[in-house]
This record gives sequence, structure tokens and C-alpha cells, in this order.
Amino acid sequence: MLKKIEILGGYDKQGNKESIQSLCLERGNIYTIVGKTGSGKTQLIEDIESLNQGEGITKRVVLVDGAVPNDSFHQGYRSSYIAHLSQNMNYVLDMPVVKFLALRNQLQLDKSSAVSPTEILETANTLAGEEIQPHQLLTKLSGGQSRALMIADVALTSSAPVILIDEVENAGIDRIKAMSLLTQQEKIVLVVTHDPLLALYGNKRIVLKNGGMSHIIERTSEEKFLSNQLTDIYHRIEAMRQLLRQGESLRGGNNFDLYSVLE
Ligand SMILES: Nc1ncnc2c1ncn2[C@@H]1O[C@H](COP(=O)(O)OP(=O)(O)O)[C@@H](O)[C@H]1O
Ligand SMILES: [Mg+2]
Repeated sequence: MLKKIEILGGYDKQGNKESIQSLCLERGNIYTIVGKTGSGKTQLIEDIESLNQGEGITKRVVLVDGAVPNDSFHQGYRSSYIAHLSQNMNYVLDMPVVKFLALRNQLQLDKSSAVSPTEILETANTLAGEEIQPHQLLTKLSGGQSRALMIADVALTSSAPVILIDEVENAGIDRIKAMSLLTQQEKIVLVVTHDPLLALYGNKRIVLKNGGMSHIIERTSEEKFLSNQLTDIYHRIEAMRQLLRQGESLRGGNNFDLYSVLE
């Protein structure tokens, strides 16, 4: 059973050794990855997913439970260990949503862990802005709907101990709900984000600069406090978004007093 992943540092874009030469990722932790656009955040996620062994542009080495993963791990088991929600994923199958989920259940080896298509769809619909219809074609889902379905699917059906998430915030879904769904169990969760709300969600932040892992910051208790306040603001904004979407007008007053949102 996978307990930890260790990343041995390689080189940044200038060919200098990364400041972090060893980073241990343990179960039960949420790590957020922050840094400017182009600083190498997606590359780090991809190095972990491919279980890089000193190759490619970064030359990082990824160890699983302290050892180099063997060939069978690479070939057969990797997908059951690592679930990856990448930046630009879309479904390519031209099939109704429920049919796809049912078919996937049929193909699943461990039938006992199968989750009904309805349950996955219902969960996805708590995340998506517009409701996904059971007979909607996968290829006709909007970006947000696709992302919501993938997240609900991974959250409910994947037993992978490692979850990699790249910029979930851009999909127009309820990001806080998505994060709480994905982080329910004791997993190793890595989240690339530009969103302060999500950046403060994790207990550790990996800071990327110039293609290299620069330093790690532990979330302070002050940040945790601020993060709770941000979540409150986020919920207010979401509530307004919902009303505006439904074609309503906003009124001031106790619930939607902008001053209290921004104080
Ligand atoms: N250590 C590195 N050495 C060389 N090139 C790198 C390194 N890290 C990232 N890159 C490259 O820099 C570009 C931007 O990286 P990317 O991971 O997409 O950035 P971000 O996700 O932070 O916007 C990509 O082409 C990537 O392959
Ligand atoms: Mg990226």
C-alpha cells in the first residue's frame, strides 16, 4: 500500500540545481503548488504522474515508498495509484453520460466498489453551474460540466491514493465543494492553483520559481483564519452568481450587503 512519494530535485530552467533537493509527500496531506505562469507547476505534476526517473527536462527522480517503482508498477498499476485532473481535459467519446457511466461500471473488475451512474451524476450536478442531463452526449458537455463530471467520478469511484489537480478553478464549478469531495479520504493531494482560496486550502504550499521547486511554506494559523473568511466571501459571491444567473436582481440588505462581503 502506497504511503509516501518522494521527489528528488533536478534542475531549473537555467540548469541550476533546484533549491528543494528532497520533498516527501505523505498521505493525509493537501499540498498546493503556487508560482507564476510558466514557473513549472504543470511540469511538476507531470513529473509525478510519469514517475520520472531522472529523465526529461527537469531530471527529477520520483520514489514510491522510498524505492524506484518497478516495471509492473509502471505498466499495470500506475493508473490505479494516480488520478490526474489536468488543465484541458475533455471527453472524446460520443455517448450519453449515463450510458458511459454504466458501461464503465460493467468493465470495472471490482464490482463491489461500483457507484451508480445516478449518484455520480447527482454529485456532478452539485458542482456544475448548469445541470447535466442523463442523456446528454459527453461531447456536448460544456467545459464546466465535463470538469464537474470528472471530479465527481474521481471522488466517488477512484481508490487512487494520489490525486493531482491542475487549475480546477477555471472551469466555472464550485471549487470549494470540489476540493472537499476530492480530499475526503487520507490521500496525497496536489493542487496547482492561482486562487488564494485554494492556495490556502492545503496545509503546505510548494513554491515554484523558474522551473524549480524553490521552497515549502507551512500554512500558518493566521492564514487558516483568513482562509475561513475567504470561504465565507466566496459563498456570498457564489450566491450572487446564482441569483444573477436565474435572472434576478440583487438587493442590498443583510444577506447581500457588499460592504460586509468586502470588509
Ligand atoms: N525545470 C525545468 N527546466 C526546463 N524547462 C522547464 C522546467 N520546468 C518547466 N519547464 C518548461 O517551461 C514551460 C512552462 O512550464 P509549465 O509547467 O507549463 O508552467 P506553469 O504550469 O507554472 O504555467 C513548459 O514548456 C515546461 O516544460
Ligand atoms: Mg500549468
